Amino acid sequence: MGNKENKSTNVVWHSATVTRERREKLHGHKSAVLWFTGLSGAGKSTLAHVLEEQLHQRACSTYVFDGDNVRHGLCGDLSFSEQDRVENIRRIGEMAKLFCNAGILALTAFISPFRIDRKKVRDLVGDDFIEIFCDCSLDVCESRDVKGLYKKARKGEIPEFTGISSPYEAPENPEISLDTGTQPLEDCVQQIIDYLESREILPPQTS
Ligand code: ADX
Repeated sequence: MGNKENKSTNVVWHSATVTRERREKLHGHKSAVLWFTGLSGAGKSTLAHVLEEQLHQRACSTYVFDGDNVRHGLCGDLSFSEQDRVENIRRIGEMAKLFCNAGILALTAFISPFRIDRKKVRDLVGDDFIEIFCDCSLDVCESRDVKGLYKKARKGEIPEFTGISSPYEAPENPEISLDTGTQPLEDCVQQIIDYLESREILPPQTS
């Protein structure tokens, strides 16, 4: 339960007859959690959506959880304090696990700056957790500044901004590391697809 106390008592787990394995068979691929992590502007969401498009065209069942989107709803009550970021990642980890059990390829695009929180999700999900490091320097992210947030953060208008006034802990041993500062988008996507095929999460492409 992360750092949250479980207040649900007298609850009994109900097993589904439609199992994950049956769902995976129906979908024609295995499920997994593709966990993108990196600084704001590193390309996590862009990559996740382009990858999803390709997977969808291969008739895969997918869903992208995007940091900015999820913070409009499910996690709209959370700030960017360390404590709230921990809770953000805990919720998304649990959600991604449910999607994985539903036979879906869950793609998550969150900064997820703390190593220990990503480790907690890894422990929760198990072997199906695939950490994808979008490795892009602060300089490049800041020069892109797609949302104009780095500029605001430098002016002190956004507190606890990752990379400026709040830390980002890079993965030490990610399953996939992408140089999203220089590597073309298509190459990054292909690298992930190759990995998924090598793990037999995706069947080999026939055409
Ligand atoms: S996380 O740290 O909790 O994983 P999350 O991925 O959900 O972050 O949200 C990051 C997005 O929120 C950024 O891409 C940016 O658009 C926006 N944002 C707003 N305030 C901050 C902040 N203080 N630090 C980082 N990102 C912020």
